[in-house]
Amino acid sequence: PSPTPGFALPTKHTQQAVDPASDFTSKWTRADAKQIMAQSNPSVAPGQNSMSPDVTMPEIPEDFPAMNDDVWVWDTWSLTDENANQISYKGYDVIFSLVADRHAGYGFDQRHWNARIGYFFRKTNADPAKDKWNYGGHLFLDNTSIGNTEWSGSTRLMQGNQVNVFYTATTFHDVAERNAGGGGIAPDAAIAKALGKIHADKNGVTFDGFQHTKLLEPDGKLYQNKAQNPGFAFRDPYTFADPAHPGKTYMVFEGNTAGNRGDYQCKGEDLGYQPGDPHAESLTDVQNTGSHYQTANVGLAVADNKDLTKWSFLPPILSANCVNDQTERPQIFIQNENGKNKYYLYTISHQFTYADGMRGPDGVYGFVGDGIRSDYQPVNNSGLALGSPTDLNLPANNPSGSISGQQNGRQFQAYSHYVQPNGLVQSFIDNVNGVRGGSLSPTVKINFKNGVTQVDRSFGQNGLGPFGYLPTNKRIGGEGLY
Ligand code: FRU
Repeated sequence: PSPTPGFALPTKHTQQAVDPASDFTSKWTRADAKQIMAQSNPSVAPGQNSMSPDVTMPEIPEDFPAMNDDVWVWDTWSLTDENANQISYKGYDVIFSLVADRHAGYGFDQRHWNARIGYFFRKTNADPAKDKWNYGGHLFLDNTSIGNTEWSGSTRLMQGNQVNVFYTATTFHDVAERNAGGGGIAPDAAIAKALGKIHADKNGVTFDGFQHTKLLEPDGKLYQNKAQNPGFAFRDPYTFADPAHPGKTYMVFEGNTAGNRGDYQCKGEDLGYQPGDPHAESLTDVQNTGSHYQTANVGLAVADNKDLTKWSFLPPILSANCVNDQTERPQIFIQNENGKNKYYLYTISHQFTYADGMRGPDGVYGFVGDGIRSDYQPVNNSGLALGSPTDLNLPANNPSGSISGQQNGRQFQAYSHYVQPNGLVQSFIDNVNGVRGGSLSPTVKINFKNGVTQVDRSFGQNGLGPFGYLPTNKRIGGEGLY
């Protein structure tokens, strides 16, 4: 990469793979993430989008439709197999979403404290532009899941009509925390799964028979736990098979670097500057600005049995120490490039979780390597794959806080991007020019190859596809379409 005046060069990453069980953790460095600003336009009129159109999500219209009038809908995923194929089951497409009651008296920003997993279905041959997703209700019966709040995960079709729902079991203990959205006793978090059955007939799709098993709690050694930091993150399991390690099932999830909050010391490898780079920051300066409080990682675990009820932690595959505090909803996407499997790790992050001195948008970030555990190269050299339109020259905002009047009104238009086969990226609408969302965004398409990603503006209308477009690419079961 050619140097941008005033910016340090990004870190060199080999993309080389090592044994998934080894303890090498790839670093998303400050030198890498600083490329977001190096590639941003410093002189746009305040409040415009300063990012390249290649990494900017097209603008969502303010008059977007609500997908459902009774529940807010946010983090969403499809019924998949172990290779990230999206499964049409007996002629139906099925998706799973975090949902919260729109009429229960709390606001949109309180949804996290009241989250349940809901599901929607529609016929596989439906017209995605016209036919609505049918809401099937909550996936689990009341008071049956591990924990009292259900956060994100993934759902896999197993043998026959068995499904495994991997999810985050969050437990709030405190009304202040739950209803006021913070300030009370911190919640517990575990990764859990529920094995149940899917049924489909002419009336639609139903689920039953869920058996819940707690799978993992943070150990405080590889993954930070609540005793070490009440604000720890441990969530969003996504399981997959790796053709390079047949017979094994892996899980990626969102974690934080273990250790007591504030104890982390930023290291040279977190900064990642090349020796002698005149624009490198010093470790002391970075540490003194409090950047050591930002300790996101992408965790890895491996299943110890075929039933996927027992799991062991492996060291994180990626850390963002001293760069960012949250790498959420990670997923691994394997794509053949020039006869070789390339592993794309996608994860979502926020503008307000960046460390001091760092700036980037709400959106999805990508990393490419030769295996699950490799020296990941951030896509576009920076890591940013797709962000909401933002003027990165202005300071960061928080979607539930007060927003600077000058900032682009679409900086929080969408979040929780989920990359599907063929580069289709689905997300939910959060805030479009002050109009709050709670419904799925128009799906957009990114093309990615050789570590470079680009929004496909020829897809849909100026890059915006149908709202909530999560098509299936593999058909299982049934004699035909119902
Ligand atoms: C992403 C996220 C997930 C979490 C969920 C809670 O939008 O923060 O990490 O599971 O939302 O609502």
